[in-house]
Amino acid sequence: MKMWKKILSVFICISLFSWIFSLCGVFAAEVQPGDVNSDGKVSSEDARLILHYCVSIKKAPEGILPFADLDGDGKIGAEDARITLRLSIGLPKERVSSRSVPGGKIIGYTAKNYPIYSVDGLIYIDGILIVNKTYSLPENYNPGDLLPDCSNAFRRMQNDATQNGLSIYISSGYRSYASQKSIYNRYVSRDGKYLADTYSARPGHSEHQTGLSIDLNTITRSFGNTAAGKWVAAHCHEYGFIIRYPEGKSHITGYCYEPWHLRYVGIDTASKIAASGLCLEEYYGITSTYS
Ligand code: DAL
Ligand code: ZN
Repeated sequence: MKMWKKILSVFICISLFSWIFSLCGVFAAEVQPGDVNSDGKVSSEDARLILHYCVSIKKAPEGILPFADLDGDGKIGAEDARITLRLSIGLPKERVSSRSVPGGKIIGYTAKNYPIYSVDGLIYIDGILIVNKTYSLPENYNPGDLLPDCSNAFRRMQNDATQNGLSIYISSGYRSYASQKSIYNRYVSRDGKYLADTYSARPGHSEHQTGLSIDLNTITRSFGNTAAGKWVAAHCHEYGFIIRYPEGKSHITGYCYEPWHLRYVGIDTASKIAASGLCLEEYYGITSTYS
């Protein structure tokens, strides 16, 4: 073989190997978000590098964004360094980086270390829009009706309930800020503010304004003891719903037991919450109290 052919084949081999190695590097980094220096672990060194990239002390390498943008806001920022530091001390990945909200800003962390995102006045934790006594919706937040994810999930659940000889229907779905205000004020004039606050949300604090909550059948405690109520309690997570104000959790949710009030959070989250036996506030480590 001529000398130039040997040189060419050595060159091709070297290129091929370096390409394979660089691919391995990408895959390794993919399984370890935060490991921006590709040393196989997430450490304070990675957080330091991220800080350097975000203040332009060091030029960020090509393709580093998916590994360095841990809060998912599309850029490398100080928050990513903070999340990386949290990861480096062993906080679970899903608690600090999963289900970030595009365009959302992290305003704090829950007692269980979930980041709390704020976007246009809405609060999200783990991709879930949070509304309770602590977290409210802006007055002008108005989806106008139940959101399709929620109404479609209800329809599936209703069909399956019918197959089981049970009748479920929506007795209250989406409610605007204004309609919640008149409902709440009516209860306050009937029972007084203290009592009304145990079963009716103040305007801006009702999940019904999200378009992701529904009341089923009769708004009475006894609904929980009916065949339909029992079936709903056992199966609603399979359709993405949770019983939002479970029995025995009033001191945490801030509301009396409401077997009829379901909140759509998606099948994955609903199943995890149902299996945990916790209410939403306990599951994420948040409060529900008026300030
Ligand atoms: N009954 C629930 C708490 C509401 O008013 O939204
Ligand atoms: Zn309700």
